[in-house]
Amino acid sequence: LSTLAQNVQDAYAEYKTHEFLRQPLKQSFRLTLSLVLLLSTLFALWAALFMARRLLEPIYELARATRSVADGDYKSRLPVVHHDELGFLVGSFNDMTQRIHQARDAAALSQDQLEGQRSYLQTVLGHLSSGVLTLDDQLHIRTANDAVNALLDMDQPLENFANTHLADVARSHTTLQAFYDQLLPEFLEAGKEWSKEVRLFSDFGRRILMCHGIPLPGSVDDAMGQAIVIDDITKMVKAQRDAAWSEVARRLAHEIKNPLTPIQLSAERMAHKLKNQLHPAEQKVLERSTQTIIKQVDAMKDMVNAFRDYASAPPASYASMDLNQLINEVADLYVGIRAEVKIERQLSTDLPNLFADVSRLRQVLHNLISNAIDAIGDHSGQIQIVTDYVETGATHCAELRVRDSGVGIAEDLLEQLFEPYVTSKPKGTGLGLAIVAKIIEEHGGMVSAANLAEGGAEITIRLPDKSIMDDTLKSV
Ligand SMILES: Nc1ncnc2c1ncn2[C@@H]1O[C@H](COP(=O)(O)OP(=O)(O)OP(=O)(O)O)[C@@H](O)[C@H]1O
Ligand SMILES: [Mg+2]
Repeated sequence: LSTLAQNVQDAYAEYKTHEFLRQPLKQSFRLTLSLVLLLSTLFALWAALFMARRLLEPIYELARATRSVADGDYKSRLPVVHHDELGFLVGSFNDMTQRIHQARDAAALSQDQLEGQRSYLQTVLGHLSSGVLTLDDQLHIRTANDAVNALLDMDQPLENFANTHLADVARSHTTLQAFYDQLLPEFLEAGKEWSKEVRLFSDFGRRILMCHGIPLPGSVDDAMGQAIVIDDITKMVKAQRDAAWSEVARRLAHEIKNPLTPIQLSAERMAHKLKNQLHPAEQKVLERSTQTIIKQVDAMKDMVNAFRDYASAPPASYASMDLNQLINEVADLYVGIRAEVKIERQLSTDLPNLFADVSRLRQVLHNLISNAIDAIGDHSGQIQIVTDYVETGATHCAELRVRDSGVGIAEDLLEQLFEPYVTSKPKGTGLGLAIVAKIIEEHGGMVSAANLAEGGAEITIRLPDKSIMDDTLKSV
């Protein structure tokens, strides 16, 4: 029993010891458990946030990328991290932006190429000496290069009238109107290729244009437009004609002139030999006949010479000369030839010296004054010779006008007045004005003829002044 009591006592003593430790132990457990709980909660929170981030990050990235695509940046690519629906979405997005990027690159490239081709075409067209005019099927202007403006004497570029009907523009532009009138039948035959020669008269003289029409496929509604290529063939036609006339002149001079001298000599010899063998009456007839033969042969020689001069004149010799002085010199020769014809002069004091061939310009004046005298005929009248220093576009030129109060130029001759062999006179050669035109052309000038409202005719000649003429001559 005592052992038992002893055991109880020991147990009690041990209990007491433990009793003493119970409180701190309890607290320590509570602390430990709270700590564990806190850590677990924090860990759970971190894990939740981590998972949420992992899930939402690609969506944020996608949203950011969408914004930059909306701002026009098609280069951004998103990393494909997941292999689930989100990964598929990101992959599709990448695919889409890449395709848009490529399409945009291709569009920009073709736009660049188109722009390049356009400016290439524009440069080529701008430097072409041929005019190129394009019209739509309704004859509205589409494009026109610089040469067209020069050929049709446009004071402002024809391209400024894009989408306007050609006829509307032509109404206020004389040369264009003539061009339009002559080509209208061809314009209306759209869909076919055509060629036509057009003759225009303007301030700058006569112009022969070769026009070719080419159908163009329509851009919008398949309606056909047309391109018209215009070439100035005035010089070429003239050169061809001159070459042909030279050849004819050479042959004619050869064929006609050679027998003329023997005819003349024979007539003279016949008159001389038969002089004392005939009755006075027959002698008179003989004399008159031989005189006629000699005179006519002389006239024929003159004609042949004039023709030869027209076709093959020696090279001109240019020097500084005073046009007014030359006019006075030539006009003085005509003063008093016919009392009823007055020769008036209005010579400009501003006129600078010209760089020209005096003897050829003298020939020009002789031809013009004698034509004017012929036009006045047996009536009384006056001839006015006027000089001026005028501005033509960017340059200056000397202008000479010979005006008369004669019958005026026959309407049907007006167009071909400067062609050889155009004459209304029974004894005229028709070479006078052809020679004038040739000389003026050689001087880089232009000549035109018109009838005056008050009656009579006026021939106008324009010659570039010295400096410009130097350039023309250099380029010949
Ligand atoms: N001042 C003028 N007034 C009226 N008609 C003119 C005038 N000048 C020229 N003509 C017309 O132009 C035509 C051609 O003139 P051009 O000088 O070339 O030859 P032509 O005078 O007939 O011959 P040629 O000069 O050999 O005498 C003339 O026949 C005439 O009909
Ligand atoms: Mg004449």
